[in-house]
Amino acid sequence: MAERRTTVIGPRRQDRSAGATAIAHPNIALVKYWGKRDEQLMLPRTDSLSMTLDIFPTTTRVRLDADAGSDAVTFNGEAATGEAQRRIVAFLDLVRERAGSSRRAVVDTENTVPTGAGLASSASGFAALAVAAAAAYGLGLDATALSRLARRGSGSASRSLFGGFAVWHAGPAATSGVEADLSSYAEPVAAARLDPALVIAVVNAGPKAVSSRTAMRRTVDTSPLYAPWAASSGDDLTAMRAALVRGDLEAVGEIAERNALGMHATMLAARPAVRYLSPATLTVLDSVLELRRAGIAAYATMDAGPNVKVLCRRGDAERVAHAVRAAAAGGAVHIAGPGPGARLLPGQAP
Ligand code: DP6
Repeated sequence: MAERRTTVIGPRRQDRSAGATAIAHPNIALVKYWGKRDEQLMLPRTDSLSMTLDIFPTTTRVRLDADAGSDAVTFNGEAATGEAQRRIVAFLDLVRERAGSSRRAVVDTENTVPTGAGLASSASGFAALAVAAAAAYGLGLDATALSRLARRGSGSASRSLFGGFAVWHAGPAATSGVEADLSSYAEPVAAARLDPALVIAVVNAGPKAVSSRTAMRRTVDTSPLYAPWAASSGDDLTAMRAALVRGDLEAVGEIAERNALGMHATMLAARPAVRYLSPATLTVLDSVLELRRAGIAAYATMDAGPNVKVLCRRGDAERVAHAVRAAAAGGAVHIAGPGPGARLLPGQAP
C-alpha cells in the first residue's frame, strides 16, 4: 500500500513543475498543400514545399497541471474559445494518449503576427505547441517525429519544424493507418545560396469567409480541376527542388507563381466556388508583372486569402515593397527572409 502511494504521488509532484516553452515561425508554401486524403491523420494528397520566415514567431508555453480538470488555453493573454480551443485540446489529447498521461495543461501562446496579416498562424502555432507539449509530457521526440506530430494540429505546421526551405512528404497514397502516419513528415531541402525575400502585401486584414480547411475539402470533393492540379503539382515539386539546388531564383519564382495560381483555379472551379482573390489582389499581381517587365525578379504566391506574398532577391526587397505598397491601397507591407526551425527555449520551464 505504502509503495503504491509513493508511485502515485511521485509523478504528481513532478508534474506540478513540468513545463516547456517553444518558439516557431510561420512558413509560406512555394508548392502548395491543398487537399487531404485522410482528415483524421491529416495526410495530404500531394507533397508541398515551403520557406520558413524570420518574422512573426509564435511562442507557446505548456505547463502540466496535476490538479486541473480541463486544459486552460490563452492567446495573447485572452482565453481561447470555440474552434481554436477545440483544436488545441484535441491536439493535447493526442499528446496525452502517446504519453500515457491524463494530466491537463495550461497553454499560453503569444502570437506576434499583426491581427489579420494574412499569415496563417496555425503553422507556427501548432509547430510551437508540438515542440512545447512533447517536451512537457516527456515524449522525447526527434525532429521528424515532431513534424509528424505538428501535422496532426495543422498540415502546414509540419513544415515549420524546419528552417529555410522544407518539403513535406505526402507519403505513398496506397498506405493507411500507422504506416501512412509514419511516412508523412517534413524535412529540410537542399538549396544553393539564393538570398531570397518574401514581401507580404496585406490587401485585406479582415477574417476570411471560408476557412482553408473547409475550402480544401470542398475543392477535393467538387472541383473538376483538382486532379489535374494535383498531378501537375507533383511535377512542380520536382522542378522546384532542382531550381533550389541550382540557386535559380527566377525558376523558383515561376514555379511558385504557377502552382499558386493553379491552386486558386481549382477553388474557382469548386461547387460552389471559393474565391479568395479580390480586386486588390489582382492589382498587386499587376504590379508584380510590372516589376518583371522592369527587369526585377518578382513572383507572387497567395494562400487561402486575398493577400499576396512576393518572392524576390533580398537586394530587391525594398523596391518590390515600394511597388506593391502603392498597389496594395494602403495595406501593410512586411519583408521577410528565411527563418529558423521550431525549437525549445532554454530555461523557460516554470
Ligand atoms: C493554402 O495547414 O492551414 O496555406 O491542415 O486543415 O490545418 P489544415 O490547413 P492549413 O492549410 C494551408 C493551406 C495553404 C497552403 C500551404 O500552406 O501549403
